[in-house]
Amino acid sequence: MKTYDIAMIGGDGIGPEVIESSWPIFQTAAKNHGVALKSQSFEWSCDYYIKTGRMMPEDGIEILRPFDAILLGAVGWPAKVPDSVSLHGLLLPIRKAFDLYVNARPHRLLPGISGPLRKNDFDILCIRENTEGEYSGAGGRVHIGSPDEVAVETSIFTRNGVERILRYAFEQARKRSKRLASVTKSNAQKHSMVFWDDVTRSLAPEYPDVQVTSYHIDAIAARFITHPETLDVVVASNLFGDILTDIGAAIQGGLGFAASANVNPRGRVPSMFEPVHGSAPDIAGKGLANPLATIWSGALMLEQLGQADAARSIMAAMETVIKTGKLTPDCGGTATTNEVAQAIAEAVENQPVKWS
Ligand code: NAI
Ligand code: MG
Repeated sequence: MKTYDIAMIGGDGIGPEVIESSWPIFQTAAKNHGVALKSQSFEWSCDYYIKTGRMMPEDGIEILRPFDAILLGAVGWPAKVPDSVSLHGLLLPIRKAFDLYVNARPHRLLPGISGPLRKNDFDILCIRENTEGEYSGAGGRVHIGSPDEVAVETSIFTRNGVERILRYAFEQARKRSKRLASVTKSNAQKHSMVFWDDVTRSLAPEYPDVQVTSYHIDAIAARFITHPETLDVVVASNLFGDILTDIGAAIQGGLGFAASANVNPRGRVPSMFEPVHGSAPDIAGKGLANPLATIWSGALMLEQLGQADAARSIMAAMETVIKTGKLTPDCGGTATTNEVAQAIAEAVENQPVKWS
């Protein structure tokens, strides 16, 4: 039986809770479709940092490299370790070392969930550039603490980086509604964002079947609220994509639903799947965390591993359980993290077995 090796990094706060409760769902879905998942857990987190002075071992990337995929909960516990240290010590190095340049995030309402909007007919796929741009980490501070202090943070946009994320987005649009929204702020940022628009324009003739529209970030942020149904595939830089996908999460019912895939479509490296939300220190350890974002991320993982039927079985099981009203408090229910995850595991188990 084909076995996929999955590295599990629960991380901090609710991260380990949502990963551990969801894992049996992925195993069951895989087994029902004739493959197996094997996991190895890594305790890399802010507690690990306090013990060792590092968020992950020096050879952490090499440890992860042989795996087929990485499942990550959440990283960060600001009361123990500054976010700038934890993020740059674990999550960002994985994205950069494996060149996981696509961060794909689906935003739609699962049947039975009503978001804050009156509309529920939207289905957006955000493609966020994941390795450069505003999060390149280029910059510095001088004269720290003095009135003359200067802080510089330089965005880096390369032709290779911009072109490959746009190509991925064009290809996704081609598979969906053939509409692509490209997000910039080229009226105010006259170098990097004009460059992005130029690259978009230069690629468009290669995808004549895709209708591409450029939006400024502020205008599309409003459009996510007022006319989300007019959007389909949305491609944006690292920072703009980060912000837009929180709006996407909000309109799909909250952070408890927002899933993501960090993918290198060209490489033989493990892709990483994680809920969009953070470690939620305010609810950690109480069984209040909504596991649906993580479960959806696991479905994205199986899909990326080539197990689309197993992925679909998870999405169907989520819908079955949502219809019963078994939900965590963030979406109006009274169930715990484990109760929701267990119900979904049972729904997957009870589906007719499909050998693909
Ligand atoms: P957060 O996403 O952890 O929490 C924001 C709010 O949403 C909180 O009220 C929380 O209780 C709620 N929430 C989040 N996920 C939920 C879930 N699954 N179910 C129910 N409610 C949920 O964002 P925050 O508070 O800004 O960050 C906390 C820590 O997480 C920080 O250290 C931050 O840097 C880190 N973080 C890590 C991310 C990652 O690992 N990808 C992403 C975002 C934040
Ligand atoms: Mg974010």
